Amino acid sequence: MKLLLFFITLIQGVILISGDNYTKGSALYTYPNAATVAVPYPTTFQENYNGDLKFLVFGDWGQLGKQTGQAQVAAGMTTWANANSTTFMLNLGDNFYQSNNAPKGTAFNNASDYEGVFSETDPKWKSYWLDVYGGQLANITWYSIAGNHDWYNNVTAEVDYFWDIDSRFFLPALYYTRKVTFGNGVTAAFIHIDTNPFYYNYTNYTKVNNMKSNLQTFNLYNDAGTNATLKWLDDQLTAVDDCDWIFVVGHHPLVGDCRLYDPKDYYEMYRLVPYLEKHKVSAYFNGHTHELAVSVANSTSPVTYFGSGAGGASLGSACPNPTWTVPNTFGFLSIYIPADGKTLQYQYVSANTTNAPTQVLYSGTVNAQSATMYFITSLNFYNSTSTIIFL
Ligand SMILES: *[C@@H]1O[C@H](CO)[C@@H](O)[C@H](O)[C@H]1NC(C)=O
Ligand SMILES: *[C@@H]1O[C@H](CO)[C@@H](O)[C@H](O)[C@H]1NC(C)=O
Ligand SMILES: *[C@@H]1O[C@H](CO)[C@@H](O)[C@H](O)[C@H]1NC(C)=O
Ligand SMILES: *[C@@H]1O[C@H](CO)[C@@H](O)[C@H](O)[C@H]1NC(C)=O
Ligand SMILES: *[C@@H]1O[C@H](CO)[C@@H](O)[C@H](O)[C@H]1NC(C)=O
Ligand SMILES: *[C@@H]1O[C@H](CO)[C@@H](O)[C@H](O)[C@H]1NC(C)=O
Ligand SMILES: *[C@@H]1O[C@H](CO)[C@@H](O)[C@H](O)[C@H]1NC(C)=O
Ligand SMILES: *[C@@H]1O[C@H](CO)[C@@H](O)[C@H](O)[C@H]1NC(C)=O
Ligand SMILES: *[C@@H]1O[C@H](CO)[C@@H](O)[C@H](O)[C@H]1NC(C)=O
Ligand SMILES: *[C@@H]1O[C@H](CO)[C@@H](O)[C@H](O)[C@H]1NC(C)=O
Ligand SMILES: *[C@@H]1O[C@H](CO)[C@@H](O)[C@H](O)[C@H]1NC(C)=O
Repeated sequence: MKLLLFFITLIQGVILISGDNYTKGSALYTYPNAATVAVPYPTTFQENYNGDLKFLVFGDWGQLGKQTGQAQVAAGMTTWANANSTTFMLNLGDNFYQSNNAPKGTAFNNASDYEGVFSETDPKWKSYWLDVYGGQLANITWYSIAGNHDWYNNVTAEVDYFWDIDSRFFLPALYYTRKVTFGNGVTAAFIHIDTNPFYYNYTNYTKVNNMKSNLQTFNLYNDAGTNATLKWLDDQLTAVDDCDWIFVVGHHPLVGDCRLYDPKDYYEMYRLVPYLEKHKVSAYFNGHTHELAVSVANSTSPVTYFGSGAGGASLGSACPNPTWTVPNTFGFLSIYIPADGKTLQYQYVSANTTNAPTQVLYSGTVNAQSATMYFITSLNFYNSTSTIIFL
């Protein structure tokens, strides 16, 4: 039944997506039927696009309420996506919050104001997602992961929503890999990971929500569990080693002082970084900290770290020491890889005020693996240039 439903939504998805060549390949993608949704999806999703690759990256968006920036980011991002024929979304998680009208400490499961979703038919699918993001954003696929606020309630329901209701909210499992081919035969791998088991220490987790019980259910509450996930990540990275671009997508930050925003929660995040460096991952995308920030690759790290967690909330004081950041600002990240695949151009865009035009705050370029490898004998090994446009 699940398979049949997925086929129907898949066919609709292909018809709805106009202007690009989206196909999930020839393989038959079936509901994994695994013990839990935390078991990585067993096969790699294949996608083909003509021409350039343009995607928008943002996280931490699903919050209505008086301090929210969700509406203005949605408006700015829709205008941008319409103008640029954006290919797809990279959604960095925290898809459904409790409203920020809720007083601190309010139980997560207040029936009218709660974290995450209760089920795949939760009314928040409509009120927080479908009703908010229009235009091109309603036509394209959102490649998604779950954040801590999703885990606070029923994160399994978010995966089931993909299989049963709408494949445009792409979350076939909490861990999955995509291989994208575009332009002149350029390849880009995206490995979508769930960082919650690496961020929260089960042993002394005390907050009143479902984080702890989910870690238990998913068997990811100790280093035996996280070791298996790291092994999977290592294997995936090895398998996509020949791609021109390798991206890892996770909810929590890995570098910079923001990763220590809540040090007692940091737990095993540090174990992820060596895998990204060893496999020369082009970039890691994260949300969680409600800011726009980039730490560019340098002589000791091949990885560029893109933070984009300002889709609904903004951080009062930006975290110190990235290459660039901006405080108190709602917005998103735009990524553009031309059809020749040699460079990645990024733009951090503010959408701070309702009805005001978006503004590019900061932009830069990252070179492809194959391009940088050419410079292996020079000091120009991991070249990455940045240009301040505003601020
Ligand atoms: C879609 O992409 C495939 C593989 O790149 C290509 O063979 C096919 O012609 C494309 N289809 C359209 C409609 O552009
Ligand atoms: C996207 O659209 C905006 C606004 O129209 C424009 O300034 C920007 O350069 C475009 N970006 C890309 C990557 O096409
Ligand atoms: C649920 O949360 C809302 C928003 O904070 C609050 O107005 C309402 O009183 C709460 N209801 C209960 C039963 O606690
Ligand atoms: C979570 O959501 C799924 C899918 O809607 C549902 O089958 C399951 O019963 C829910 N779990 C709980 C604890 O409510
Ligand atoms: C989105 O898809 C609908 C239905 O196919 C189409 O009418 C509309 O023009 C598309 N919007 C954009 C901004 O591409
Ligand atoms: C997990 O991996 C670490 C590092 O390789 C190792 O020290 C530890 O013993 C492993 N734990 C288990 C339970 O396998
Ligand atoms: C959890 O354990 C860590 C490491 O031992 C400790 O630093 C932290 O204070 C503990 N947190 C709680 C809430 O007990
Ligand atoms: C997790 O918390 C327990 C209990 O406080 C502590 O003993 C352990 O060292 C913590 N683990 C890490 C990796 O911080
Ligand atoms: C290089 O980048 C990494 C990751 O952002 C950072 O931790 C490190 O401090 C940087 N090193 C130098 C020499 O700038
Ligand atoms: C966005 O708005 C906030 C509050 O009004 C302000 O502090 C911040 O500087 C603005 N950001 C930009 C980039 O203008
Ligand atoms: C990186 O590339 C830019 C543009 O090609 C060049 O101007 C710059 O000198 C290079 N940086 C290094 C460190 O070689």
